[in-house]
Amino acid sequence: MSRLIVASQLPDLFNSVFAQHVGDAEIVAVPPGLAAPLPAQAKVLVAAPFRKAGGVLPPEPPKGWPYDVQWVQLVSVGIDFYPDWLFDGPVVTSARGSSAVALAEFALAAILADAKRLPDIWIDKAARWAPQPLKLIAGTTLGLVGFGAIGEALAPRAQALGLNVIATRRSDKPIPTPGVERVADLKTLFARSDHVVLAAPATPETQRLIGREVLAAAKPGLHLINIARGALIDDEALLEALDDGRVSRASLDVTHPEPLTEGHPFYSHPKVRLSPHTSVHTPDTRINLATRFAENLARFRSGAPLADVVDLSRGY
Ligand SMILES: NC(=O)c1ccc[n+]([C@@H]2O[C@H](COP(=O)([O-])OP(=O)(O)OC[C@H]3O[C@@H](n4cnc5c(N)ncnc54)[C@H](OP(=O)(O)O)[C@@H]3O)[C@@H](O)[C@H]2O)c1
Repeated sequence: MSRLIVASQLPDLFNSVFAQHVGDAEIVAVPPGLAAPLPAQAKVLVAAPFRKAGGVLPPEPPKGWPYDVQWVQLVSVGIDFYPDWLFDGPVVTSARGSSAVALAEFALAAILADAKRLPDIWIDKAARWAPQPLKLIAGTTLGLVGFGAIGEALAPRAQALGLNVIATRRSDKPIPTPGVERVADLKTLFARSDHVVLAAPATPETQRLIGREVLAAAKPGLHLINIARGALIDDEALLEALDDGRVSRASLDVTHPEPLTEGHPFYSHPKVRLSPHTSVHTPDTRINLATRFAENLARFRSGAPLADVVDLSRGY
């Protein structure tokens, strides 16, 4: 079998993990973005994000899609860090699933931190020795907005802790996890849930999906957790819902924009727990991405359809 050349815009840390997984293919490091031509024989491009947080996407090159490759693998699940014109070229696959367990654990950590009042119960002086009332999460209801790779990782973990899980998704595909109830719409999901985790992509359809109307239907005291994309939330509507008590807490690992400008109310609001898009940063995501890439590489070599292909018209 000829040695297949994969041009990778990822850092050495990723490339060495990829190299361990792809057997006969050769990983050739190239600079990110459009800065340099690719090796002439490269058939595959592993693309780093085309913009940094807070940055802008590059315009389409004057002569259109610039590279003579047959497949582009993205390093992220969301496609919002890549320009639309990137999808006018060869088939593009996303990193779908590579961080699903990391994100599921992060969502559960947010739920437990709220119920068990972490970190507030940890004391550093005798004067604070006063037991605090805590909440149980067993028997409560978790609502999932989106039921893709993250939903599939999170639902059974939540069920194992005794939570009831309900979900919505865009398509009419069934929910594959036994025991997860599909609900008809977002308002019903918010009305029935004690915790809601956003696990859907940023698309034109999901921009500010969580706005006044949906939040008005929320079960009083609901905890909203966003590990997907900040654009899904209408921030003003969320602040109103936090202030009037319909939402008791918002745990936000993603915001729009990123980073939030200095002085944004989310930094100081007593009911907001803000983290800097950090849920994905666990070592397994590199290995998972490399494993899934290697599986797709085998399909690519044999001419079989690739998994995790991005459909730009759908937005994920
Ligand atoms: N924080 C991070 O670093 C990080 C890491 C990974 C992912 N993410 C974000 O999380 C998103 C989800 O990740 P994933 O791996 O679960 O993606 P996925 O496997 O592609 O699943 C996306 C899910 O969202 C659903 N969906 C799409 N539009 C919707 C809508 N309007 N209303 C309700 N559900 C909708 C889809 O429904 P159908 O299946 O029915 O089409 C699908 O179930 C990604 O797109 C990305 O933006 C963030």
